[in-house]
Amino acid sequence: MTKILQLEKVTKNFVQAGQTIEIIKNADFSIKSSEFLSLIGPSGSGKTTLLQICGMLDNPSSGAVIINGHNMAKANDEKRTKIRKLNIGFVYQFHHLLPEFSALENVALPLLIQGVNTIDAYKKARETLGEVELQDRLDFKPSQLSGGQQQRVAIARAIVSKPKLILADEPTGNLDHELSEKIFDLLKDLTKRHHIACLIVTHNLELAKKTDQILRIKNGIIEA
Ligand SMILES: Nc1ncnc2c1ncn2[C@@H]1O[C@H](COP(=O)(O)OP(=O)(O)OP(=O)(O)O)[C@@H](O)[C@H]1O
Ligand SMILES: [Mg+2]
Repeated sequence: MTKILQLEKVTKNFVQAGQTIEIIKNADFSIKSSEFLSLIGPSGSGKTTLLQICGMLDNPSSGAVIINGHNMAKANDEKRTKIRKLNIGFVYQFHHLLPEFSALENVALPLLIQGVNTIDAYKKARETLGEVELQDRLDFKPSQLSGGQQQRVAIARAIVSKPKLILADEPTGNLDHELSEKIFDLLKDLTKRHHIACLIVTHNLELAKKTDQILRIKNGIIEA
């Protein structure tokens, strides 16, 4: 199977009040096509930081991040943005949907940004909202949707462009237990069906156990 994401000896330090804190120490792992991995660890252990580095929203202090064969250290900003848009979808704890736009518009947006024509973008957005069973909520704004529905729109938005990898940072963190499980299962089902790899941060060990592999981060060290 193709490696979609590779981290080689990735470190991340933050300098705070003249002190250097090592958040990530020598992270070395890879994610293959269609793999579904979870990342668990205590609060403040660096899960979001690691996800941001995997998604090129932040740079490592040292080491290499290789996305679908492209070494990001060697890429300029323009290339990084292009590779990110083509390969990666994000899902956050709080959906980050645009409040002024409808569900349909929110899901169509990544395609429109990629330059897909309006008719095709809306068609695909409609189909994808159907896949998360929101075909009857297309014109609703985020504030008119329930928490679980908002998260389903966010998942639809992440998968609509069929990225190679989805990075999900506690996507069920603010939902109740039953709904968390449903959203998690939906994400797993959709990513498997579309052969999308997924790295999901979760505090829920029961959910983590349902993934292909659990990565644990503690004191900066990642263990598989
Ligand atoms: N820009 C920054 N400057 C300095 N320190 C930072 C910065 N961003 C994060 N940190 C520190 O890095 C550590 C890891 O933060 P991170 O947000 O990755 O944790 P997390 O594992 O996602 O925690 P949580 O489970 O609470 O979301 C924290 O101790 C935090 O204070
Ligand atoms: Mg976090």
